[in-house]
Amino acid sequence: MSEHVQAFDRWIREEFVTLNSALERLYLQQDDPANVQGVGDELKSTLAEQGRVLVQALVEEGNTDEGFDSAFDLLGNVGLYMAACRRHEITEPSRETSSPLIEASALAMHIGASIGVTPRFATAHLTTHNRAVNGVFKRFTDLDDEKLFVDYNTKGILAYKRAADALLKIQPLGISHPISADLFTVALKALQEVIASNQILFERLDKEMFFNCVRPYYKPHRVGQQVYRGANAGDFAGINVIDLQLGLCFANEPSYSQLLVDKFLYMMPEDQRILRDCMRRSSIMDEFLAAQEHAEEEWYQQNLSLFLAVCQCHGETAIQHHNQLVEKYITEPSSRMVQEHMEKVTASGPPLAVLLSALEKLRDRRAAAKRDDIRTRFDDIAALTLTLKGAE
Ligand code: HEM
Repeated sequence: MSEHVQAFDRWIREEFVTLNSALERLYLQQDDPANVQGVGDELKSTLAEQGRVLVQALVEEGNTDEGFDSAFDLLGNVGLYMAACRRHEITEPSRETSSPLIEASALAMHIGASIGVTPRFATAHLTTHNRAVNGVFKRFTDLDDEKLFVDYNTKGILAYKRAADALLKIQPLGISHPISADLFTVALKALQEVIASNQILFERLDKEMFFNCVRPYYKPHRVGQQVYRGANAGDFAGINVIDLQLGLCFANEPSYSQLLVDKFLYMMPEDQRILRDCMRRSSIMDEFLAAQEHAEEEWYQQNLSLFLAVCQCHGETAIQHHNQLVEKYITEPSSRMVQEHMEKVTASGPPLAVLLSALEKLRDRRAAAKRDDIRTRFDDIAALTLTLKGAE
């Protein structure tokens, strides 16, 4: 790691956190905590300028690449700086046609294009690829709610990944293999862990603190001329691997494939490869539908009942995400928010109603709910359930 890279990393872990935290405390003192204009201007210029000087040195250094991991990590640091400038409205995409953070944009675009990811911080930077130093990982502020949010995002993502890995391992073995039962069991346990972890997040994360002081760092912002949407916990392949391997979602359905196309560059290159590969495979659901002639076999009864339990559990995680997390932390506080700030609520940019309807469809596909307007597996799940012994 070059000296400049180290100096910037130290700053991100120390002064940067102090400045952001001080600004958050000032915003919170207002009647309308969503307003950031005219508050803490000196702290904001210090943040912008200290970051600019450190980034300038890195741009001049030019080749800071010491392998993928180090380039990705540096991109995360520039990304955190740019996201904080957006949060404090030092930059604002609707006000500008190009990011005023010229040096940071140059560095982010250089690294992003060279390693095949978006030139902004992504979820992986804060969660699965966020190295802790002496027990403390990188974050924007020292607020407990931010730490809680990142902790439970990381737990949720890792658990989804464990489920996805297990399901992928079933492909070469086939649904009738005795060891596939073990793999379904691993996937089931991992999804139950997603539910348990999301439940703790739901119980402990303070609604107002999340909405006012955590979520704003995840807004869309410009890098160079283009606006990039905010990071969200879904930016890893595992969740879609589960959707596609179980067969609950279809890679050839336009609204779902649109979602995949849009998220590719927000994922680590390794995840991009896994997802591409998975999009070309058949689903476990289709394999069971084609195997009903073996319904009397022991393997069929055992593996199908485990498969259906995994589908059910995946649906429950989606219902929980939408009906608890999105409802409590986005929908409900947004409805009370001063109208002038409303257009800035979501991480991905579209109006809230559009985002919510898309997330609702995703929930219903994952839960195989009965819907006439989109394709779900309601009928197929019902048909497979009927082939289980003891089914009504
Ligand atoms: C996407 C809210 C925690 C998994 C989203 C989106 C919202 C949201 C609003 C839509 C994307 C956008 O705005 O751009 C929340 C809230 C959370 C939370 C308020 C907690 C306070 C989590 C956790 C996980 C998770 C812990 C588990 C890993 C996902 C996934 C997506 C997503 C997979 C992508 C869309 C999808 O495929 O379902 N989330 N989320 N979220 N979130 Fe969360």
